[in-house]
Order: sequence, then C-alpha cells, then structure tokens
Amino acid sequence: MTCRKILITGASAGLGAGMARSFAAKGRDLALCARRTDRLDELKAELWQRYPNIKIAVAALDVNDHEQVPKVFADLRGELGGVDRIIVNAGIGKGAVLGSGKLSANKATIETNLVAALVQIESALEIFTKAGAGHLVLISSVLGNTGVPGVKAAYCASKAGLRSLGESLRAEYAKGPIKVTVIEPGYIESEMTAKSTSTMLMVDNETGVKAMVAAIEREPGRAVVPRWPWAPLVQLMRVLPPQLTKPFA
Ligand SMILES: NC(=O)c1ccc[n+]([C@@H]2O[C@H](COP(=O)([O-])OP(=O)(O)OC[C@H]3O[C@@H](n4cnc5c(N)ncnc54)[C@H](OP(=O)(O)O)[C@@H]3O)[C@@H](O)[C@H]2O)c1
Repeated sequence: MTCRKILITGASAGLGAGMARSFAAKGRDLALCARRTDRLDELKAELWQRYPNIKIAVAALDVNDHEQVPKVFADLRGELGGVDRIIVNAGIGKGAVLGSGKLSANKATIETNLVAALVQIESALEIFTKAGAGHLVLISSVLGNTGVPGVKAAYCASKAGLRSLGESLRAEYAKGPIKVTVIEPGYIESEMTAKSTSTMLMVDNETGVKAMVAAIEREPGRAVVPRWPWAPLVQLMRVLPPQLTKPFA
C-alpha cells in the first residue's frame, strides 16, 4: 500500500524534518507537528515552494499535553482529508547517570519518548480503526536493544519500551487492518546527536533519513537503519553482558 497522507510528530527538526522533505519529494501530503511552530512554518514554506502540488498542514503540539494529542491529530486529519500513515517520531535525548539525584532529566525522557508515545499510539489507532486501515510507524532506536552505563540509561529504557509496544501491536494486528513498523535508527546527524556525548558510527542526516524512509515505505514489522553496520551490531547488543555495553553509551 502506498501511503499518501502522512502525519509526522517532532517534524520541526532532525529526522522528522528530514522525513518530511523526503516524503514531500515523493509527492505525499503531509501533516507536521511539534512545539516550535516557527520551524514548521519555515519547513512548510520551503516544501511548498519546491512541491506546490502537495497539501501541507502544520500544527503546534507538545506530545506531553496528553489531551491535545488526539485533538491535534484529528484537526490535521481533517485538514488533509484523511491520514493513512502516522510516524511517532517526537523524542528527546536528555538524561543523567542513575543515582546522581537528577531524576527530572530521566523522567522527562521516559515521559516524552514512552508515555507520550503511548498517547500518540492510542490517538493513531483511533483514527486507523475508524478508517479501517493505516500504517503506524514507531521511531525507536538501536539503543532500545540494550542498557548502557551513563547518561543514556533512561533513553535506552524509553526506546526498549517503545519497541516492546510495537511488538505487542504487531501481535494485536497480525491479521490487519493496521500495519505496524518499528524503526530502530543508529546514530544520524540531528539536533539531538549534536548535543550527545557519543555518536559512534554516525551518518549524515540525508543518508540516515534515506535509509529510514526506504524502510518505512517497505512497511516491515521492524527495521534497523542504516542496515550496515547496525543490523549485526544490534544482534551483538542483545547478547552482550551489561559490563561490556559501554562502547554503545
Ligand atoms: N538522531 C539519531 O541518531 C537517532 C537515533 C535513534 C533514534 N532517534 C529518534 O528519532 C527521533 C527524532 O530524533 P532527532 O534525532 O531528529 O532529534 P531532534 O533533532 O532533537 O528532533 C526532535 C524532534 O522532536 C520534537 N519534540 C521533542 N519534544 C517534543 C514534545 N514534547 N512535543 C512535541 N515534539 C517534541 C522536536 O520538536 P520541538 O522541539 O519543536 O517540539 C523535534 O522536532 C527521536 O524519537 C529520537 O529518539 C534518533
């Protein structure tokens, strides 16, 4: 199925904005949301100039405002005249060493990347159930396959939780009508990686987004991107004893 109307959360920067550019180039209609609407407006203007025939709707959304999520999704769906793919992409990479007394950074990461993702999932399922079809895409991470020492502990947990929700959804909708894809990116250049202490084997934004979009278009249950070298590394991450996971931190 080619999805023609795509909603992306966290579309104001990084991978979300990159995916928007890539899907626009394929002629798809877009619903884009994030907190920074100035960025969304700039992106919309840029895309409309290049692709005047596509529809683009933008909206302010803080995914941690749980009541707003279904409302904004419904409004964007109304503006586009339907949505057949929703990409749960909004995320943060805050974090502190466990036991350092800085609960707030870790809590914020789990709230945004996992709890708010659950809210987005529920809102997406409501739309797709009514429509009788749809493709739900969850942006997890290769780090969802392991735990690491240091500041990325809560981030790993949030992405493992999201991956697990994706697996449950794939079981729930094994016979349709909703397709579910979990994308597990390795390090890709973005605002988040610019702030990160370690970004092993990072690829540039265009290369990483190209791999993500190609995987999303295939609609598999799960995809590690870029496939090389991350697919074999993920196998390793899953079996490594915890004391050997530091290189991934
Ligand atoms: N880059 C990587 O190497 C990498 C690897 C694996 C997974 N990922 C995942 O990919 C996704 C995108 O990350 P990125 O690298 O593109 O990061 P980024 O450049 O920091 O962009 C994050 C996006 O999420 C949005 N966002 C953050 N908090 C939000 C909130 N409370 N409500 C709504 N939107 C929010 C931001 O928009 P506003 O600030 O405007 O709200 C921004 O558009 C994340 O889920 C991340 O965990 C990234």
